[in-house]
Amino acid sequence: MEKRSDIIIHTKKMCKGYANGEIHQYVIKNMDIQIYNRDFTVFMGPSGSGKSTLLHVLSGMDKAGMGEVYFGNTDFTKYSEKQMTQFRRESCGFVFQQTYLINSMSLMDNVLISGLLIEKNKKKVVERGKKLFHDVGLTEKEWSKYPTQVSGGQIVRAGIVRALINNPKIVFADEPTGALDSVSGRAVLDILTSFNRAGQTIIMVTHDLTSALRGNRILYLKDGRISGECILEDYKDETEGRRDKVICFLEEMGW
Ligand SMILES: Nc1ncnc2c1ncn2[C@@H]1O[C@H](COP(=O)(O)OP(=O)(O)O)[C@@H](O)[C@H]1O
Ligand SMILES: [Mg+2]
Repeated sequence: MEKRSDIIIHTKKMCKGYANGEIHQYVIKNMDIQIYNRDFTVFMGPSGSGKSTLLHVLSGMDKAGMGEVYFGNTDFTKYSEKQMTQFRRESCGFVFQQTYLINSMSLMDNVLISGLLIEKNKKKVVERGKKLFHDVGLTEKEWSKYPTQVSGGQIVRAGIVRALINNPKIVFADEPTGALDSVSGRAVLDILTSFNRAGQTIIMVTHDLTSALRGNRILYLKDGRISGECILEDYKDETEGRRDKVICFLEEMGW
């Protein structure tokens, strides 16, 4: 089994840009980065600094333009489209602000679609789904509803269940609380924190200080490069000292 401090993802001189007419400017520039197993890694940085782009490349949702991206010992930039899809389904879970649930299906059925891509035994998937819904605090009555019948917070929680249904090695979250009020946002953060405590590796992008405090490692992205790093104890609760340390770091970064 992988140990806590093992590197789970790393990149070598990774660049990523978007073709923009004749101009091709890299959004991510020559990045060498290591992400550790079981960490709750947080990326912060100004809007447009490339946080989502980086998340997409690290999760294999999008291809790097240059350089290498390793998952364990395998450089997945060499994968075919088909291998890539398989890798994402088996190893990655995604939580977005916008969850892309299918409105004509119940929350549970939305989760089952993802689960059945990997596990063919429906009973097993349903059992795991029920357990996860319980873990995120949704009752049977709630997970039987359609996305249009529940609150934004409940939708994001269903999105977390869907992200976790295939036992992913890593959960990627892009501004998961961005569209929520502070109470629902806190509930979602508590859920992510509890999964991380149970050993789940999480990589989260946020522009929100309260969310960032959940990480044990904050990386600051600026102009396509990592400009600083703040290491914290594992999150227990939101102490003043923790908040001050992160504010101080962010100010240093020019946040
Ligand atoms: N699909 C795309 N096509 C072209 N440009 C993009 C695309 N996605 C992002 N960008 C550009 O890349 C830069 C970084 O975007 P993004 O990674 O979304 O930043 P962040 O998540 O930090 O706000 C921005 O300048 C943005 O306009
Ligand atoms: Mg973004």
